[in-house]
Amino acid sequence: MTQPLLRVTDLRTYFSTEEGVVRAVDGISFDLQPGERRGVVGESGSGKSVTAMSIMRLIEPPAGEIVTGRIEYKGANLLEMAEDEMQAVRGGQIAMIFQDPMTALNPVYTIGDQLMETITLHQKVSKREARDIAMQALADVQIPNPVARLEEYPHQFSGGMRQRVMIAMGLSCNPDILIADEPTTALDVTTQAKIMDLMLGLADERNTAVLLITHDLGVVAGFCDTIQVMYAGGIVESGSGDEIFHNPQHPYTWGLLGSMTRLDQAQQVRLHSIAGAPPSVIDLPVGCRFRPRCEFAQDICGRVLPPLVETGAGRSVACHFAEELDLKAIDVRHRETEAEEVIS
Ligand SMILES: Nc1ncnc2c1ncn2[C@@H]1O[C@H](COP(=O)(O)OP(=O)(O)OP(=O)(O)O)[C@@H](O)[C@H]1O
Ligand SMILES: [Mg+2]
Repeated sequence: MTQPLLRVTDLRTYFSTEEGVVRAVDGISFDLQPGERRGVVGESGSGKSVTAMSIMRLIEPPAGEIVTGRIEYKGANLLEMAEDEMQAVRGGQIAMIFQDPMTALNPVYTIGDQLMETITLHQKVSKREARDIAMQALADVQIPNPVARLEEYPHQFSGGMRQRVMIAMGLSCNPDILIADEPTTALDVTTQAKIMDLMLGLADERNTAVLLITHDLGVVAGFCDTIQVMYAGGIVESGSGDEIFHNPQHPYTWGLLGSMTRLDQAQQVRLHSIAGAPPSVIDLPVGCRFRPRCEFAQDICGRVLPPLVETGAGRSVACHFAEELDLKAIDVRHRETEAEEVIS
């Protein structure tokens, strides 16, 4: 097999707080291939952003620390790189887009200055060339009138336009990997879809791999080749988007899918939802972290943390009963019961 573009192995990122040690990311492993669109989904607090920040090496010590693991980009461990080498990777080879562009843009500099700064940081070009690249980058994200827009300040752009600027900035140096952390959550639904199309279209043209972080399964459904589902700092299931959607093998994934209100036979049917809340990542339960909320839990689940094991080609699940549970069949039974309830 060819070397993946990015390989994360047993990554653990913890924070020391007054309440105790927060095990935000606790032993995750995954690969990202060139040009792959990988979705990272999970409830709030499951460790999605900390995963992204760890890859970018933006975890702030002393409170935050990557305690163990490897993050290999084209075979080189980012965690062992000198800070100046890492700076070249950051933005140049691996770029990141955040949920709120206002925190990433500096209000006192023009959009043009900020774009040009990123460009000159990573590419040996003259000021004039940087300006041309910046202008083209704005045109690529379909910002009308890019020449005039370069001279404007962040507050003169709408939320959707600012997110376009962030995409322009992210892609301006032709990175191999674009990490987008909830890039459209702050926007209205119509703008969300447009921005997502635009971002992924540009990534496709350049064969940029995308790690798309979102709590919205609907978003990853439409846009990702592969999906990893995170729960309480771990990956509970990963596989192709199709497999995850049509044949979930982990009760948590099944719950996430069921609690999405979906149109089913022209009728809105809520299949099932997950009761309870995720555990505190300070005080994780012994055994499977999902056990307290799992309707299929048995004795062993309270004692042994199930490892993520392969259940098929490109498919992994961390559940003691992954092979035995036929969640699809249970889904149909739920639906029939609901239908009966509606009729009676
Ligand atoms: N700087 C920090 N100090 C202490 N705890 C932190 C810090 N950053 C994150 N955490 C904790 O780590 C856990 C994972 O956080 P993370 O931001 O990765 O969640 P997330 O999956 O991105 O959630 P969301 O969907 O809300 O963005 C949470 O319990 C969070 O409170
Ligand atoms: Mg987050």
